[in-house]
Amino acid sequence: MKYDIKDINLADKGKMRMEWVERNMPVLRLIKDRFAKEKPLKNIKISACLHITAETANLFLALKTGGAEVLGCASNPLSTQDDIAAALVKYHDIPIYAIKGEDMKTYYSHIMKALDFHPQVTMDDGADLVSELHKNRKDQISELIGSSEETTTGVIRLKAMEKDGALKLPVLAVNDSSTKHMFDNRYGTGQSTLDGIIRATDMLIAGKKFVVVGYGWCGKGLASRARGMGASVVVVEVDPVRALEAVMEGLEVLHMNEAMKVADVAVTVTGGKHSISLEHMKMAKNGAIFANAGHFSVELDYEGLTKSAKKKKVREYIEEFTFKNGKKVYILAEGRLINLAAAMGHPAEVMDMSFANQALAAEWFVKNRNDLSPQVYRIPQEMDSEIARLKLEAMGVTIDQLTAEQKKYLSSWKEGT
Ligand code: NAI
Repeated sequence: MKYDIKDINLADKGKMRMEWVERNMPVLRLIKDRFAKEKPLKNIKISACLHITAETANLFLALKTGGAEVLGCASNPLSTQDDIAAALVKYHDIPIYAIKGEDMKTYYSHIMKALDFHPQVTMDDGADLVSELHKNRKDQISELIGSSEETTTGVIRLKAMEKDGALKLPVLAVNDSSTKHMFDNRYGTGQSTLDGIIRATDMLIAGKKFVVVGYGWCGKGLASRARGMGASVVVVEVDPVRALEAVMEGLEVLHMNEAMKVADVAVTVTGGKHSISLEHMKMAKNGAIFANAGHFSVELDYEGLTKSAKKKKVREYIEEFTFKNGKKVYILAEGRLINLAAAMGHPAEVMDMSFANQALAAEWFVKNRNDLSPQVYRIPQEMDSEIARLKLEAMGVTIDQLTAEQKKYLSSWKEGT
């Protein structure tokens, strides 16, 4: 079996960590148990371009148990957990192409390896694999049943492709399922982004002016967690409804130019480009710290800053930039996803639901393979509800059910005051 990982000797550590997180992934376990009996993915080749973490490893095992042949490659050059990559290769015979810190050339060569596998189903986190397929491997598109997409940014890219008529295969927007973005983006990114910032800096969050740029699902989670740790949170938004929501949550909403004057820490989670621009960083206070938790590093103009200020590495994950006037700002993890670069990504409890969606998405593709066309599909509502039901059951939470009379009342228009 061919693979490209950092060090196979890290496998034992990775195996232990995979087993530890598995305890907190009960929904994926239930799906895996069913897959073991039904083998819905028999003879299906799956290439998954995802963050190679302990939670992802458990998704790969569920897919393999369902009968699939699985290959994994990184969806970000800095997010790979090298011990997990080693454990998947050594103990589970799953080829992995991912090395933490790989350069862009290696990153894309690994994606090509995932395409050399000739998958019938692909999984993406940011749409890089599907994008390479459309740009460089058009001849392979007809081999694919479909591809599922994990994150907001990827869904935006794929919808843009669909609108342009450029999308040539069916896609399932896993991100848009409620059991994904309401939990993974909000609670997962909220907690793990703070974890990444704290691990990188060892700073006290309490008492800091903490600027959250983008008050979407990720931004809401981050703002609430930072406030919970005692920070004074400022939100920057471009969408009036979201900005209003932040105001009514009791948060301060400021224009970016004003926010920059007070920020001790500023984090971008917009999915856009240069949401923290060079000009913004020039406006910042001396000593301000910047990080990105959005999918692509372009959210923060790291390149522009590198050209305009003198760079010095001051500790792992922290670079100091000194402008000509002597002002210093600090960038964490080169502007890449801070929660995956400096911490361990999302906790297993939320990835349990995200990856339950991914596992069921693969099964859905196989079941519906003859009825699909090139477009971005939503996860069926029943699948979403089933995942939430299983999660509640695993957490020992019982909920109520509508009575027949209540159902009738809610579906009729005749009964009023
Ligand atoms: P969302 O669409 O719910 O929220 C984004 C928000 O940013 C919107 O409210 C939008 O109005 C705002 N925004 C856009 N441009 C802005 C600008 N220049 N200034 C201020 N606000 C701006 O998206 P979501 O789900 O919160 O995702 C955000 C990003 O985080 C995406 O790139 C997504 O892929 C990524 N993501 C990262 C994760 C991680 O592990 N770090 C996990 C999940 C998503």
